[in-house]
Amino acid sequence: MTASIARDGTRTLSPAGHMRRFFDSPLEMLAESPSQGDLVRWRFGPFRVFAANSPEVIHDVLVTNAASYYKSSSTKAVMAPLLGNGLFVNDGDSWRTQRKLVSPAFHHKRIAAYADLMVDYAQSVGKTWQDGAEIDLEQFMTDYTIHVVSKSLFDAEVSGQETELREVIEQVLRSVDERLMTLFPTPMWVPSAKIRRYKAAIARLDELIYQIIADRRAGKTSGQNITDKGDALSMLLLSQDEQGSGMTDKQVRDEVMTLFGAGHETTSRALTWTWYLLSQNPEVEQRFHDELQAVLGGRTPTLEDLAQLTYTEQIVKESMRLYPPAWVTTRQAHQDTTLGGEPVKKNNVVIINIWGVHHNPNLYPDPWAFKPERFTPEFEKSLPKSAYLPFGNGPRVCIGNAFAMMEAKIALAVLGQRFKLSLKPGHPVEPQDMFTLRPKYGMQMHVTVRQPELA
Ligand code: HEM
Repeated sequence: MTASIARDGTRTLSPAGHMRRFFDSPLEMLAESPSQGDLVRWRFGPFRVFAANSPEVIHDVLVTNAASYYKSSSTKAVMAPLLGNGLFVNDGDSWRTQRKLVSPAFHHKRIAAYADLMVDYAQSVGKTWQDGAEIDLEQFMTDYTIHVVSKSLFDAEVSGQETELREVIEQVLRSVDERLMTLFPTPMWVPSAKIRRYKAAIARLDELIYQIIADRRAGKTSGQNITDKGDALSMLLLSQDEQGSGMTDKQVRDEVMTLFGAGHETTSRALTWTWYLLSQNPEVEQRFHDELQAVLGGRTPTLEDLAQLTYTEQIVKESMRLYPPAWVTTRQAHQDTTLGGEPVKKNNVVIINIWGVHHNPNLYPDPWAFKPERFTPEFEKSLPKSAYLPFGNGPRVCIGNAFAMMEAKIALAVLGQRFKLSLKPGHPVEPQDMFTLRPKYGMQMHVTVRQPELA
C-alpha cells in the first residue's frame, strides 16, 4: 500500500486514515509530526483531526482561545463511567463552579500541611528496601502515591480498606487504559466478561467511596458533624458555591474519584521515570547526591528544605519533559473557530502534542538526552509559552501540580539520601502509551544502601 500526502497533509492510507497508525504507535507519530508543520491535519475514518504541534498553536487552544473548546467527547465517553462529571471531564459553567469549589483543597497553605505525611510515607517505603534487594520500583512508587492521596483526601478512614481500594482502582484504571487505546472501545451496554468486570469494579469503588462520604457526613469518623480535618474530603463537603449550595454526594463522589484517578498514577509514573533516568546518568546522580548532602546532610527533609533543592527540582522537570506522564491530551471545538489560520469546524478534535513539543530539537537541543541543567530560570523564561506542558496549561491546568511537585521532591529527598537504585542488568525499558506513560516492562531495580537511617 502506498501512502500519498494530500495537499492538506492528509496521508490517505486506508479508510481508517491515520487512525490505525495513531493507535498502533502514537509516540512515533507524535514525535514526527512537528517536522511536518505547526498544525497537521489527520483523518481518523470519516473525521478530521488536527495535531497541534507548536507551542503557539497549542497556546491558542489551551489558553488564548480556550473558550472555544471542550474536553473531547471520546475522552468523556471512556471516562464517564469512572469519573462521572468530575473536574477532568466536566465542561462549561458546571466545570467552572466545581473548579472553584475544589481549588481551596489545593491552596498552597493547604498542601503545605501534607508535607509531613509525604515524608512519613516515603520513609515507610524505605523501611522495606534491603541492601542488595531487587525491587519492582513501579509498585513501590504506586504504593507511595496512593497512600499520600488516600491520606490527604480521606484522612485516616481508608486505612482498613486501603488494600481493597487500591486493587479496585488499579483494576478500573487498567480497563480505562485498554478502552482509551483501542480504535473502537466496546460499548458499555455489551454484556461481555470484560465490561461486566469493569462495571463490577466501578460499583465496588462507588460503594467504598459513598461509605466514606456517608461516615463523614454522619460525623462517625470525626465524632462531630462535618469538621475540617485538613483533608480534601472536608474541603469538598464544606465548600459552598456562590449561591450557598454545597455539593451533592454524587458530585463529591465524582471529584474524589477524579482526584484519585488523576492524582496517584501520574506522580508514580513521574517518579519511576526519574529514578530510571538517574540510574542511567551517573554524573547527574552524583550532583543529585551532592545537593542532598549539602542541603540536608543526612537528616529528614522538611517543607522548608524543599525550596533549596533546586537541582532536584530541575531533575523532576527534565524527567517530565522526556517522559511526560500525560503525553497527549485532546480538545474538541464546540463552535466554529480558527487555529493557525485554518478554519476549525464545530466538533473537530485537536490533539495537543505534548510528546512532540517536549522532544522538539528547536526548543530543546539534544532533545532525547537527560540534561536537568537546562532547566535554569533563564531557560524557562526564554521558552515560548506552552513549550513545556507536563501539567497542561490555561484554565484547565492540572489542579494538583504543586502537590505533585512537592510529593516527587520529598520522595527523592528521603529515598535518594538512603539508597542508590540501579537498573537490573539487561532489563528492557520502553515507554508505553497508556493513559499515562508507563515503562512497558515495569522497572526492576537493584537497591544499594547509602545511609541506613535518616537523622
Ligand atoms: C506528575 C503528576 C501529574 C501530572 C503529570 C498531571 C498532569 C495533568 C495534565 C496534563 C492535566 C491537564 C489535562 C488537560 O488539559 O486535558 C491535568 C489535569 C488535572 N489533574 Fe493532574 N497531573 C499530575 C498530578 C495530579 C495530582 C497529584 C492531582 C490531584 C491530587 C491531579 C488532579 C488533576 C485534575 C483534577 C485535573 C483536571 C483539572 C481541570 O480540568 O480542571 N493531578 N493533570
